[in-house]
Amino acid sequence: MESYDVLVIGGGLAGLRAAIAAVEANPRINVGLVSKVYPMRSHTVSAEGGAAAVLRPEDSYETHAFDTIKGSDYLADQDVVEAFVREAPIEVIQMEHWGCPWSRDPDGKISARPFGGMTTWRTCFAADKTGFHMLHTVFQTSLKYEQIHRHDEAFVTKLLIEDSRCVGVVALDQRTGRFDAITAKAVILATGGLGRVYAFTTNGNICTGDGMALAYRAGAGLRDMEMVQFHPTGLPFTGILITEAVRGEGGYLTNKNGDRFLKDYVPNKMELGPRDIISRAMVTEFEAGRGFEGPHGKYMHLDVRHLGEDVIDRKLPFMRELGREFVGIDIVHDPIPVRPVQHYMMGGVDAGISGKTEILGLYAAGECANVGLNGGNRLGSNSLSECLVFGAASGRAAAEYASSAKSVTANPVDAMLWDEARRVEAAYLEKTGGDEKIGTIREEMQRDMDAGAGVFRTKEGLEKLTDQLGGLRERFGRIKIEDSSRTFNTELTATMELDFMLEVSQVIVASALARDESRGAHARRDFPERNDDKYLKHTVAFSRGIEDPRPRLEYRDVRITNFKPQPRIY
Ligand code: FUM
Repeated sequence: MESYDVLVIGGGLAGLRAAIAAVEANPRINVGLVSKVYPMRSHTVSAEGGAAAVLRPEDSYETHAFDTIKGSDYLADQDVVEAFVREAPIEVIQMEHWGCPWSRDPDGKISARPFGGMTTWRTCFAADKTGFHMLHTVFQTSLKYEQIHRHDEAFVTKLLIEDSRCVGVVALDQRTGRFDAITAKAVILATGGLGRVYAFTTNGNICTGDGMALAYRAGAGLRDMEMVQFHPTGLPFTGILITEAVRGEGGYLTNKNGDRFLKDYVPNKMELGPRDIISRAMVTEFEAGRGFEGPHGKYMHLDVRHLGEDVIDRKLPFMRELGREFVGIDIVHDPIPVRPVQHYMMGGVDAGISGKTEILGLYAAGECANVGLNGGNRLGSNSLSECLVFGAASGRAAAEYASSAKSVTANPVDAMLWDEARRVEAAYLEKTGGDEKIGTIREEMQRDMDAGAGVFRTKEGLEKLTDQLGGLRERFGRIKIEDSSRTFNTELTATMELDFMLEVSQVIVASALARDESRGAHARRDFPERNDDKYLKHTVAFSRGIEDPRPRLEYRDVRITNFKPQPRIY
């Protein structure tokens, strides 16, 4: 049994930043890092546009805070935002010191570009492969700490909870098929998002809500799960992200009449409006018959032809490559077809500003967490900074807690490991008589989520979706796994991922059904207005246990400091 002071689950930007922060906070502790993929394959690698930070004299913390809070439709906790905007520049400069190859202005300063909902240029970038470069930077930095021990390609199936305290995890070593207990005084969840509950998403196959489901099952709350972000510009068919940086650099969105239609929705911001509003504008235009029709549905044009080849090749080279490889166009000469696509989860494991959850010893950071930063709608480029700031904060907090927490004993852990291994073997590997395929259930779930919990929602649509998910959960009990082998049994891991996805989907839908208003990304056609009297509150969902899929919902006041809620007009 491996045992650590701090165990990080997830090898993306938040997880690696947390691991480094933990050992820097206390070099005497040891840190385990479990990732279901090799860390450089984590979803951070696909982030494109940049990381927001106040680094220029014309900018201010107050402006970044206000932009973020207004962007969140006033559902962000303002003390958290205020702390975040102060820490983000420190983290970006730390990345610089660790060797991140930021794009540069002619005077050598880190370049910044405009991004949606931000009033000034504060999105620092490394061309249009920012996530790749940032992930590479923290990964190579983590290698210099011998206190960090990696468990690559290990799939966590359960959190170990003893006496209401998190004491580690059970993980399936995918190479050997062996279940291991990995114990720790403190565990940090940094497992990323859940985009794969939708069919049309920018998220990689690995984004299946694992950390959220693990925490929820262990008794933690999931906060604001109705707040799902749709990015306006995904490539039809694949869902591959066309970065907002394309609009930041001056790209236009046009409908089939050649109109820059955003003048009717966000006249003062146009293409640099926030994502929720632009996505709704696009769907509204589609419904009015002003979208293009293609083999993969309706779309708009994103036009960068006027920028010229030099700017495109310098600042958006990856977009040109994506156009060539996935659409067969050259964006220097052709407009890019785009449509709204699921991109990010504002909701997540209910956590405080240092990542602490309600379960002693359990922390969460990055997209799988909800620390109160993003509220109803995240601004583009706040996410990479969020992973750094709150990854580091959770690493420090977990290290501090672990430095004085009592050790974990083998006695109950051995029994818990045995129980969990038997559960998985009996439920999946040894089960006979099933007739359902996981691929079929997964596709139906994704299609139903697209239809019922997308850019616009209604009570009827969400109720229908509740029934559909209930039916899929029931059918999941009858799945048949063809592959009973132990080595890299991807059918087994995909089954456990589907189990997690069904769980978090049910929480999304229940939380959305209960919020009878429109705020941020949660747009209810039957309740089109924001209702601050009733819903200036976070939704927090708790599991009622395996027998009852309906979460128990609680509400908690949003923390307001300096920014009084106002109508959100751009
Ligand atoms: O469009 C983008 O590059 C996405 C950035 C983000 O989600 O922060």
